[in-house]
Amino acid sequence: MKTLPFLLALLAGLALSAVQAAEPIVIKFSHVVAPATPKGKAADRFKELAERYTQGAVRIEVYANGQLYRDRDEMTALRLGAVQMLAPSLSQFGSLGMRDFEVFDLPYLFPNKATLYRVMDGDIGKRLLARLEARNIKGLAYWDNGFKQVSANRPLESVEDFKGLKMRIQSSKVLDAQMRMLRAMPQVIQVMDVRTRLAEGAVDGTENTLSNFYSQRLHEVQKHLTLSDHGYLGYAVIVNKPFWDGLKPEIRAQLEKALKEATAYERRITQEENDNALAAIRAAGTTEIHVLPDTGRRAWQQALLPVHEQLSDLLGKDTIQAIYKIAAEVAREERPHNGKRQ
Ligand code: LMR
Repeated sequence: MKTLPFLLALLAGLALSAVQAAEPIVIKFSHVVAPATPKGKAADRFKELAERYTQGAVRIEVYANGQLYRDRDEMTALRLGAVQMLAPSLSQFGSLGMRDFEVFDLPYLFPNKATLYRVMDGDIGKRLLARLEARNIKGLAYWDNGFKQVSANRPLESVEDFKGLKMRIQSSKVLDAQMRMLRAMPQVIQVMDVRTRLAEGAVDGTENTLSNFYSQRLHEVQKHLTLSDHGYLGYAVIVNKPFWDGLKPEIRAQLEKALKEATAYERRITQEENDNALAAIRAAGTTEIHVLPDTGRRAWQQALLPVHEQLSDLLGKDTIQAIYKIAAEVAREERPHNGKRQ
């Protein structure tokens, strides 16, 4: 009987062509910075890996530079399902009423990357991501952009130099308090508008990582940059939860694998990206770079530490204490290396 095998082969062929003809699942991944930044590169790497591992069953569309949504709108777009994936900075979660994410904004909280990663990968980081579920958001990973530096059109060497300056910040109560502590006037501006507002003179200065500073071409409109490492900029990679839960488990597993690898890649390149940006800013010759001597750094730390206490009710006293403890643990472990920053 030839008919049965023939029929089975026919059915298998039909099933295969149905699968092949099926439209891929599209994940729109929106972010607000340039492709040539740690976040931009990691998003592109995630796309490449996710499409490879799912053998084309998933298509990732990466939209950089806020071309789809600006930082103020992207969280709403995610919750409405207009995009499926984002990597907003940790300062953006206050807009969801989750101010405790702003603990990452506290000035001089993380003495090194080892402390930071231990916080992100440990209980504190996990607890924060889990809290997003109440907002129909699934937190999948943390990405890193490194420590922030400050710039203006006058040198910022002593804390007195900030007095009266209008300083751009992200929307964050902690960043607001930090600038006020320096007697500067904080102004919330979305990243894509910062260059224009600086060029117009609507604000005097800003803080950001070197990769953002260079890729936003802020060196063309800021004469002085101080390497202060006073604050931190990182991201949470998040997805729309109903969308994520609706994926087949095997697809989710492949996407998780791709994200894990993209996250490791992101952490590997972030320091190099910021170092390259510093070299490029230097080469451009438009911005004088100031390195704080140790005494200067200590004076900045002393001036800014009261922000920890001031915001401790909002951010959670226990969380702040737990981070100090982790920093002390890391310092003890690293003592033979003499506290060298990674
Ligand atoms: C900023 O607003 O400066 C940053 O959050 C931008 C980013 O996503 O790195």
